[in-house]
Amino acid sequence: MNLTLKIWRQKGPNDKGQMVDYKVTDISEHMSFLEMMDVLNEQLVAKDEEPVAFDHDCREGICGMCSMYINGEAHGPDRGITTCQLHMRMFKDGETITIEPFRANAFPVIKDLVVDRMAFERIQQAGGFISVNTSGNTQDANAIPISKHAADDAMDAATCIGCGACVATCKNSSAMLFVSAKVSQYALLPQGQVEATDRVLNMVKQMDEEGFGNCTNTGACEVECPKGISLENIARMNREYLAASLKG
Ligand code: SF4
Ligand code: FES
Repeated sequence: MNLTLKIWRQKGPNDKGQMVDYKVTDISEHMSFLEMMDVLNEQLVAKDEEPVAFDHDCREGICGMCSMYINGEAHGPDRGITTCQLHMRMFKDGETITIEPFRANAFPVIKDLVVDRMAFERIQQAGGFISVNTSGNTQDANAIPISKHAADDAMDAATCIGCGACVATCKNSSAMLFVSAKVSQYALLPQGQVEATDRVLNMVKQMDEEGFGNCTNTGACEVECPKGISLENIARMNREYLAASLKG
């Protein structure tokens, strides 16, 4: 395949940035999207040009690093996948592909396609944990009975990889799907009850301070989420937040 790529290039956080056109040749339909980007960068380096900066790590849909907005969609045209799991067979020979960073005020661009998602880390630090006795007298996790239904729902929420596609997709740049997944995975389990009140209040407060927008129940986040995180988590977080506010 031969392709035209329109890629957002930005030298640094304070650079204005612009779309730049590139041609890539000899792309196999079996390549992943990131392998196609590797080919482009090899071709740029061979011409003494600056390669395109993009985030990646695991390249198997686990780490959530590969934040690219491809042809107007987070992680591209396929569903239930990350950019590293996107294959070039989804595109046609001769096609023009537009590639931008995840855009949100709370995710400032560091360089080219790399954005700063530390806002997610700070939300996690505000409450995305449980306190466990690690003195050697830790209770065996299996000693606490948990219903299958609760365990399954908590596991589904815990599959959120913190990629930020929900934020990039939302017209308000809301982080509600991410935060609600992190709140839910603990709210559903007995181990998460001790800090439940503080957790939801602190995480939502941090989310607001980071500059994420409000949720207007459009549901685009759920559609673009590579892990299928359900909007039910947002409803659960709202219930948790209301209960915690009344207690406070
Ligand atoms: S909720 Fe989905 S889209 Fe949002 S950060 Fe988690 S995995 Fe990514
Ligand atoms: S590189 Fe880890 S999810 Fe894509």
